[in-house]
Amino acid sequence: MKIGNVIVSAEQIDAKLAEMGARITEDYQGKNLILVGVLKGAFVVMADLARHIDLPVEFDFMAVSSYGSATKSSGVVRILKDLDQEIAGRDVLVVEDIVDTGLTLHYLLKNLEVRKPASLALAALLIKDGIDRPPLDVKYEGFHIPPKFVIGYGLDYEGKYRNLPYVAEVEEVD
Ligand code: IMP
Ligand code: MG
Repeated sequence: MKIGNVIVSAEQIDAKLAEMGARITEDYQGKNLILVGVLKGAFVVMADLARHIDLPVEFDFMAVSSYGSATKSSGVVRILKDLDQEIAGRDVLVVEDIVDTGLTLHYLLKNLEVRKPASLALAALLIKDGIDRPPLDVKYEGFHIPPKFVIGYGLDYEGKYRNLPYVAEVEEVD
């Protein structure tokens, strides 16, 4: 494969994360915010978004794997790494790179809800349009993109390209 067209540039991403961070800063004044990143993809978004949040936030991470092929989600999720800390009574903001089928997040939110956080919300940099998915309330969303497979800014193709500073399409070549 080749790196295809740039869908969202590094400058656009930074401006959007600044906006999202400002809103989060406003909304979570006086709250006890913990950011929960979904590994591995979300680590880039989380690192940059967090630096636009002007609050004493805590970080935690979960790692999940959805059974299925490399580019299709099956909805069956396995927790590879759980949170290090309890979230009961905490204000939890789950940070994701992309919402595709939404199945991973649907499962994750249900799983976290059971732990009785004071609040539970969702931030995602990218939302794929034109996908039939369970209702998902993304409180802080970045960009809507066409339903194509993309790489960069945390998103991988066979484990690679997560370090691209922008989001690009994948171009298949023989
Ligand atoms: P879901 O289909 O919304 O459950 O997406 C689950 C995970 O699949 C996301 O968190 C990403 O890690 C990955 N994913 C979904 N779409 C893409 C893509 O276009 N490129 C790379 N990874 C993706
Ligand atoms: Mg992934």
